Amino acid sequence: MTRQAIVAANWKMNGSLALIDEMVSGLKDVKLNQNVDVVVCPSAPYLAAFALATKNEGLSENFHLGAQNVSEHEKGAYTGEVSTTMLREVSTEYVILGHSERRSLYKETSTLVAHKVKAVLAAGLKPILCIGESESERTTGQTEVVLAAQLQPVIDEIGIEKFNEVVVAYEPVWAIGTGKTASPAMAQETHEFIRQFLANADVEVAKRVPLLYGGSVNAANCEELFAQADIDGGLIGGASLKVDEFKVICSAA
Ligand code: G3P
Repeated sequence: MTRQAIVAANWKMNGSLALIDEMVSGLKDVKLNQNVDVVVCPSAPYLAAFALATKNEGLSENFHLGAQNVSEHEKGAYTGEVSTTMLREVSTEYVILGHSERRSLYKETSTLVAHKVKAVLAAGLKPILCIGESESERTTGQTEVVLAAQLQPVIDEIGIEKFNEVVVAYEPVWAIGTGKTASPAMAQETHEFIRQFLANADVEVAKRVPLLYGGSVNAANCEELFAQADIDGGLIGGASLKVDEFKVICSAA
């Protein structure tokens, strides 16, 4: 079946107003294959500027705005937090949740991530749910157990039907920002496991969920990764800050 293909840019705590202008004007002439959506996720203070630049440049409806995190609360005394309502007000459509940097640096548990996924869906936004194992978890053969433990709380919280509106990004922690990409075969094998895990809950839903690969994706390796049967695009870090390279990756999906 044809699934929605997605290339998402996670700028992390990088970027500037100047990069937004450069990226938006660069993306104007990118050649996208049919059924490909591009999601750019800058830091929260830049969301409104990105939305405005996208509108001014007249980017097509295949381009979307994403945030890198959100609060699980609707509003109130949560200093420093950003709500789903605020994201919607500045035209955000996607939210990255459960990124390994949030799990490790900010101690976000899979339970908290599941609550955030629920809040994001309730607000009519689309979660990009990140899961992935560490290097030691891979070398000790725990990859599947770890991925299952990250997915199951979300299935329990929202129900498998709601995965029709969820994007899952598999990002092996050892491949993030290291230049050590999972081989296409290894990435495919893990994506197949993830799809099968979802299929154990609902076969039809599992067939529709876009599964993105993330971890040192670049212009040179994207084509082979995206050609794998269960890889429906990528979540791109470092290479998404370079306009020309990101365009190549978008066109390869
Ligand atoms: O979310 C994207 C990510 O963590 C991968 O980063 O720099 O390895 O592409 P990078």
